[in-house]
Amino acid sequence: ERGEYDHFMLKEIHEQPESLARSILPYIDQATQTIQAGETADQIFGDADRAVAIACGTAYYAAQTAKYWFEQIARLAMETDIASEFRYRKPVLPVTGPALFVSQSGETADTLAALRYCRENKAPAIAVVNVPESSIAREAKAIVPTHAGPEIGVASTKAFTAQLAVLAVLALSAAKARGHLKAGDEARYVKSLLSLPRKVSEALEAEADIKAIAQSLVKARDVLFLGRGRYFPLALEGALKLKEVSYIHAEGYAAGELKHGPIALIEQDLPIVVVAPYDALFEKTLSNVEEVRARGGRIILVSDDRGIKLAGNRADHVIRLPDADEIAMPILAAIPMQLLAYFVAVAKGTDVDQPRNLAKSVTVE
Ligand code: M6R
Repeated sequence: ERGEYDHFMLKEIHEQPESLARSILPYIDQATQTIQAGETADQIFGDADRAVAIACGTAYYAAQTAKYWFEQIARLAMETDIASEFRYRKPVLPVTGPALFVSQSGETADTLAALRYCRENKAPAIAVVNVPESSIAREAKAIVPTHAGPEIGVASTKAFTAQLAVLAVLALSAAKARGHLKAGDEARYVKSLLSLPRKVSEALEAEADIKAIAQSLVKARDVLFLGRGRYFPLALEGALKLKEVSYIHAEGYAAGELKHGPIALIEQDLPIVVVAPYDALFEKTLSNVEEVRARGGRIILVSDDRGIKLAGNRADHVIRLPDADEIAMPILAAIPMQLLAYFVAVAKGTDVDQPRNLAKSVTVE
């Protein structure tokens, strides 16, 4: 039931402190502050030459975010692909490494077909699924479930952050199995994962600010989302969420791609959401912000205190995130993407929980 909330989407956004705790705790040994993702996963990742991660839609963006963790923390090359592309191109699979399948429903037709291709070609399939009795879960070699609980809104929210959290656990466990995680770092990452429910509650405190900013997007014809590094997939997710529920045309781009085409779109008052918590690449993104502003674009900056301070008056609006490390921050950055899309949709009066033309689970290709 929706309870006090007007829509399932908003209820599910607000459930994330609990759905994240449920999804993280089974993989953490509290006594030793260590990650426990299960023996099969550890063994598969330990010996892996590379990995592939396959999914559709929002689940694909979770996989794309995880690629940064797997490469940077576990030093494991990971290729990500959309299931509908992967399944038909006779892909070359890892020799010893896994194929990861990310799916809320576990019934997405293309993702299931991609899994079957990997099975036939002897690549061990690991499923990150929210429905443990689903087809994808049943056919995988190992299941690493998310425990987001049933998601009713067609737009994925709490399932996405649960996928990110479980993929972070997997990346850390791969790092351990591959000898790339020092004990001190493991304890630090565990602490960061355990702090997520509280930090998500803090991120949700920006709701009133986001609602106000959303009013300024209602009339927009197009919205651009920019991000770099691990925030690039978050920009893609922000754009997908907005178009799904508000029907406003939105594009997500890697900030560094701006000059290679999309900058031609910038005109007076075009809203540009920049997903840029402070990190080693922040200054580069800031120079993209300047380029956009010089052409009249209106900047909505999603960042933490440090980033917001450095950006100064270059941002027209800011959405503040709590401080966090490279594991927790991309998960926190999902929250404003969801709330922004939600409030624009509500202001436009669309059918938020059941947007036109969309199905919750795409079981035909
Ligand atoms: O059930 P799945 O996670 O496999 O679904 C994948 C996509 O269909 C899904 O994420 C879709 O993109 C959502 N509507 C996004 O909000």
